Amino acid sequence: MEWYEAAFDRFYTVMYSHRDTKEAALAIETFGHFLQGKSPVLDLASGNGRYLQTLLDAGHEAYGLDLSHYLLRSSVQQWGHEGRIVQGDMRQLPFAHGSFGSAINMFTSFGYFSVDTDNLLVFREVHRVLKPSGVFLFDFINATRISAKLLDETRRQSMGFDIHERRVVEGHGKYLVKHAKISDLETKKTESIEERLRLYSKKDLLLMFGSVGFQVIDIFGDYHGNAFVSGVSDRLIIVCEKP
Ligand SMILES: C[S@@+](CC[C@H](N)C(=O)[O-])C[C@H]1O[C@@H](n2cnc3c(N)ncnc32)[C@H](O)[C@@H]1O
Repeated sequence: MEWYEAAFDRFYTVMYSHRDTKEAALAIETFGHFLQGKSPVLDLASGNGRYLQTLLDAGHEAYGLDLSHYLLRSSVQQWGHEGRIVQGDMRQLPFAHGSFGSAINMFTSFGYFSVDTDNLLVFREVHRVLKPSGVFLFDFINATRISAKLLDETRRQSMGFDIHERRVVEGHGKYLVKHAKISDLETKKTESIEERLRLYSKKDLLLMFGSVGFQVIDIFGDYHGNAFVSGVSDRLIIVCEKP
């Protein structure tokens, strides 16, 4: 089993409880104007549906796709997203050419595959399912900052669990690997989770977008819309268009 088939399950919600609808609302408030008049919106890797719900609340016609049965179920239970979400793999989208006016891919839902051509395939698929003039809002980790200021070990508590995370950069700076141990504070039962992310730089991503036919229209460094500063910014947010 690949790490991304296992990691986005019940402990994802515990580990990332701080990634909530408040954060999604801020991002959509800042970047939502890029999606105006670009319906419908595809939330690619929609997870528990926090962005999908935020888009719907903001009046967009929106749909989601994700691989995780667990998170898709949560999307239905929490928000009633049945009929709006589909289970699938981002490398092979089950949609016809030109189905969407725009797409979003938020909170580092990219770089999961060990082969670069598989990651590139995701951009190719997004490009294929967008209409001409379609917009893609892409929100990734700032790899330069992560490599320079790696928090190699952290310990915290969330939702009744102790979370012990160790991070290493491997493969000459190409991969960020996170090993997490999650222990139930009551039962002391511990589970291990691994995440493995391809650390694409801004330069890498711009080349990849260009190679599948996207034109970059703007770049930001956080959800407030501040400029991207290499080595400093929290996020690398790229907005591009299918000409
Ligand atoms: C970091 S989470 C972010 C989820 C959501 N975008 C958010 O901001 O809450 C990454 C998401 O990618 C999904 N995912 C992982 N591998 C995938 C794949 N091969 N195809 C589609 N979705 C995938 C996971 O299930 C998870 O929901």
